[in-house]
Amino acid sequence: MTGTVDVDAVVEEARAAIGSASSLEEIRQVAVAVSGKKSPLAAVSRGLGALDPDSRRVLGQKLHEARTTIEGLVERRRSDIEAEELSTEMAGARIDLTEFVTGAIPAPPSRGHLHLVSQTRDALEDVFVGMGFEVAEGPEIESDWYNFGALNMPPAHPARGMFDTLYLNLGEPETTLLRTHTSPVQIHLMEDAVVNGVLPIHSVMPGRCYRRDTPDARHLAVFHQVEGLVVDKGITFADLAGTIEVFTTAYFGPDIHSRLRPAYFPFTEPSAEFEVTCTICHGPGCRTCSQTGWIELGGCGMIDPAVFEAVGIDPDEWTGFAFGFGIDRCAQMRHQIADMRSLIENDIRFLRQF
Ligand code: PHE
Repeated sequence: MTGTVDVDAVVEEARAAIGSASSLEEIRQVAVAVSGKKSPLAAVSRGLGALDPDSRRVLGQKLHEARTTIEGLVERRRSDIEAEELSTEMAGARIDLTEFVTGAIPAPPSRGHLHLVSQTRDALEDVFVGMGFEVAEGPEIESDWYNFGALNMPPAHPARGMFDTLYLNLGEPETTLLRTHTSPVQIHLMEDAVVNGVLPIHSVMPGRCYRRDTPDARHLAVFHQVEGLVVDKGITFADLAGTIEVFTTAYFGPDIHSRLRPAYFPFTEPSAEFEVTCTICHGPGCRTCSQTGWIELGGCGMIDPAVFEAVGIDPDEWTGFAFGFGIDRCAQMRHQIADMRSLIENDIRFLRQF
């Protein structure tokens, strides 16, 4: 039987089968077929016992060589297949982290920045926070009571004429309007302080205001104010004047000063308008300041006892002052903007300068 098996031919057949295996499963099956118990080589080795010693030694040697060759072929093919499978898997999992930009490289998107009015509000807040004030806000839609009544302007009070009011609802159930100034936030803060028992108050209240004004170089129908309110014990007009002077020099610079001129507001007594050194001519007088050397910024005064009574604060125990001025006006003066309407035209060439 051994004579019928050509060991060399078996090795060549095995070499061909091993070479054509293309997966780990196939090489496993091929290995069983060429060197397992049912392989031609196993049959040959089973027949060795029947041979004479010389033939057995020669054939045994040949069988051993054949097995070693076949095992080597199987191992090499197995590791080749493993390497192929690994690289196929890696090619599938590959992520391309490079980006090819063809043509001109686009400019990176620019980040933009806050509008000049927002920058000005932030800068003013910083100045007042540095002086120990807190920052508060109030609603832009107000009732008649907050915008006028509680501020000592009962219905038909002539001072209401100073404010060209945009009404939202007249009369029943109540009159509502777009606030014409930030002074109604004074009322909200004082009411809250009474309810929560948290007097004194040292707050600034920035925000948007509305008036039925025709816009011109120095007025907008939608504009911004900063209100200031101090309610404490033993507060005097000197505290008010000092606060305004400190804020003026802190915001506009050391050569800009403030002055107060007598004025009238129903909710402060005494009242004043405050002016700052003209930022165009710095004092001697020019067209912008009508040759006076000063530019009006806002109103101020000591809280009228009638306002304290309207919110339930005892005017014999507490005193205080309030002020209010335009944020847009501050930006205009500090940056010497000829026409305030530039602030709302959204011309990017204008806005980019600040
Ligand atoms: N609210 C006033 C105005 O807009 C300004 C002001 C505020 C005056 C506080 C006195 C006290 O004209």
